[in-house]
Amino acid sequence: MSDQTVSTKPKKEPSTSPVAGGQLPYLCDLFSRQEARELYEQIYKDVKGVKVSHEERNQKKLTDKSLIYGEACYDEFCEILQHVQPNPGSTFYDLGSGIGKALVIAAMTVPFAKVVGAEMLEGLHAISMEAVSRIKTHLSDQEKETSTQFEIHCKDLNNISMTDADIVFISSTCFSDSLMDRISRQCEQLKTGAKVVSLTRGIQSSQYETIEKKHIKMSWGSPTYSFKNTKAQRRHRRLRSAPHQTKTLNENSGRSVVDDSSGSL
Ligand SMILES: C[S@@+](CC[C@H](N)C(=O)[O-])C[C@H]1O[C@@H](n2cnc3c(N)ncnc32)[C@H](O)[C@@H]1O
Repeated sequence: MSDQTVSTKPKKEPSTSPVAGGQLPYLCDLFSRQEARELYEQIYKDVKGVKVSHEERNQKKLTDKSLIYGEACYDEFCEILQHVQPNPGSTFYDLGSGIGKALVIAAMTVPFAKVVGAEMLEGLHAISMEAVSRIKTHLSDQEKETSTQFEIHCKDLNNISMTDADIVFISSTCFSDSLMDRISRQCEQLKTGAKVVSLTRGIQSSQYETIEKKHIKMSWGSPTYSFKNTKAQRRHRRLRSAPHQTKTLNENSGRSVVDDSSGSL
């Protein structure tokens, strides 16, 4: 990783942090768009996630196709995040977080209170942890008190709790049917209003429906992604304009999904 210096003087008005009662800025408040981009490029300049993943899978004789590596592209991933429109103070999850690119982009460009990753391969996980450390070396002591927290697990993504998730990202192009089944069941446990973004392979659940599909560039090509809402959430909106039916409304939960239904690694 490269070790050049990037100025981290706040360039914009901090978002209000519900976590810290408005006292602390989010990580994204500490960087202008250009500074965030430059720091990201520096952090990942000499890192080869594909090679690290390949070597570890070879060494450990892991043949599961779900472990095939690919990465988020900066501008396009920012576009996805804009499309999903997270509220300030939200929590972001990346299921299969690789070297942490999506986590870093999310934390540096959106006022997330917490970004959480789960990555099974140790080599990739170690790089993501180092990337977070690198960001922190560019912050003053005061700025290190930022309200955006990183939590990156080196474990099977099916073994993490997502009770606080607002946005879940799944780069699922190569994920197996059984892995997608397990993820789908996990997503059914998300709290009301949570949104799920998945690439190529959407979660399968009667609780969700597709709202919109879109092409997006990733490191391996240009798959499409689509925006989904739960049927319950759509019904929720209809019921809000029919107050006499609020009894039914209170029984519903609303979760959203962004998925992608084409493209390959
Ligand atoms: C296509 S890569 C995406 C990396 C990252 N999300 C990004 O967009 O830059 C998918 C990642 O999921 C990881 N993975 C696959 N199955 C997993 C599992 N069951 N538990 C944890 N990680 C897994 C792979 O090792 C790989 O790093």
